[in-house]
Amino acid sequence: MSTYKCITLAERPKADIIPDKTFKIEERPVPKESDLQDGEVILENLYLSLDPAMRGWLNDTRSYLPPVEIGAIMRGATVGRIQASKSSDFKPGDLASSRAGWAELAVVKDKELKKVDLPTGARPSDAIGVLGATTLTAYFGLLEIGQPKKGDLIVVSGAAGATGSLVAQIGLIKGCRVVAIAGAEDKCAWLKELGCEAALNYKDPDFATQFKAATKDLIDIYFDNVGGEILDLALSRAKPFSRFVMCGAISNYNNPNPVGPKNISMVIAMRIRMQGFIVFDFADRYHEALVEISKWLSEGKIQRKEHIIKGGLQKAPQGLVDLYKGINTGKLMVEIKSEGARL
Ligand SMILES: NC(=O)c1ccc[n+]([C@@H]2O[C@H](COP(=O)([O-])OP(=O)(O)OC[C@H]3O[C@@H](n4cnc5c(N)ncnc54)[C@H](OP(=O)(O)O)[C@@H]3O)[C@@H](O)[C@H]2O)c1
Repeated sequence: MSTYKCITLAERPKADIIPDKTFKIEERPVPKESDLQDGEVILENLYLSLDPAMRGWLNDTRSYLPPVEIGAIMRGATVGRIQASKSSDFKPGDLASSRAGWAELAVVKDKELKKVDLPTGARPSDAIGVLGATTLTAYFGLLEIGQPKKGDLIVVSGAAGATGSLVAQIGLIKGCRVVAIAGAEDKCAWLKELGCEAALNYKDPDFATQFKAATKDLIDIYFDNVGGEILDLALSRAKPFSRFVMCGAISNYNNPNPVGPKNISMVIAMRIRMQGFIVFDFADRYHEALVEISKWLSEGKIQRKEHIIKGGLQKAPQGLVDLYKGINTGKLMVEIKSEGARL
């Protein structure tokens, strides 16, 4: 193999991503081991995480990360194997996660890599799946920002997705009652199986009435993954001194004219503590969280669910578009290279 594939940003979308206009698939020469500088490795990516936040990284606006530049490799979290190394911290064959981006191969500095030590029974995709950033987002968002107490009523939107499904499961572990919201009947059925006391399909014409009934005791914690109309409904059902964990607003990401909540004055009337966060805020505590999450996984207290798109890196642009259409239950990722079945 003399070239490898990577995907760059060709133009900034104004609303929805148009796969073959927004992105460009390129072939670049394979890096040579002899060209590595001290501290660098060649990483062969196995899985690429697809994340709603990627749409925001395409906008040329101020945010928690700078926008991806036109012509640059699209940013993204991956897990892969070290192919060659000039680092004392990594050797060929090691598994590592990185933000190497949408590429089959990447030259990465060791400081930008995280060694992946999988617990027994785990598999490489877990590093960006159940043991990855979305689970950490659920963990710190719920436990640190939400401050759950036994018996609290948690409402979580985007509940069948990577972050939301872990919020629901961690909430249940903590002895809370969970009302889940998702966009399909099969997603709601899975959320009920997990132990949620209600799982409501927001596409049902009767959703607002069902939501009111499911929150008759009023909401202690609302974990918001979607913003928009569902956030408005949650505000209307907030308990005094409730906590609103502002994690994401996917309903607005592709909207060139995003709408704000109409019921924002409920924050005052109900003395709601509404706080946004970015998972990176807790980076120095990831290890502590992963020890607890790995234990829950091995004890069967949390379930992993992945939607893996096969067919290689070139499937990523359409996969990202499909993420906003709700293709996934659990964590969405692209298999860049198969290592065969492992457990
Ligand atoms: N603050 C942080 O540090 C942080 C970190 C990671 C993720 N996030 C945020 O958390 C949220 C979930 O991210 P994720 O990675 O776990 O993705 P995900 O939930 O696995 O996937 C996105 C899901 O959003 C739902 N969705 C799409 N459009 C929607 C709409 N208009 N209204 C309601 N739901 C819609 C879809 O499911 P349905 O079928 O249910 O519609 C889709 O499957 C996103 O908003 C993301 O930006 C924040």
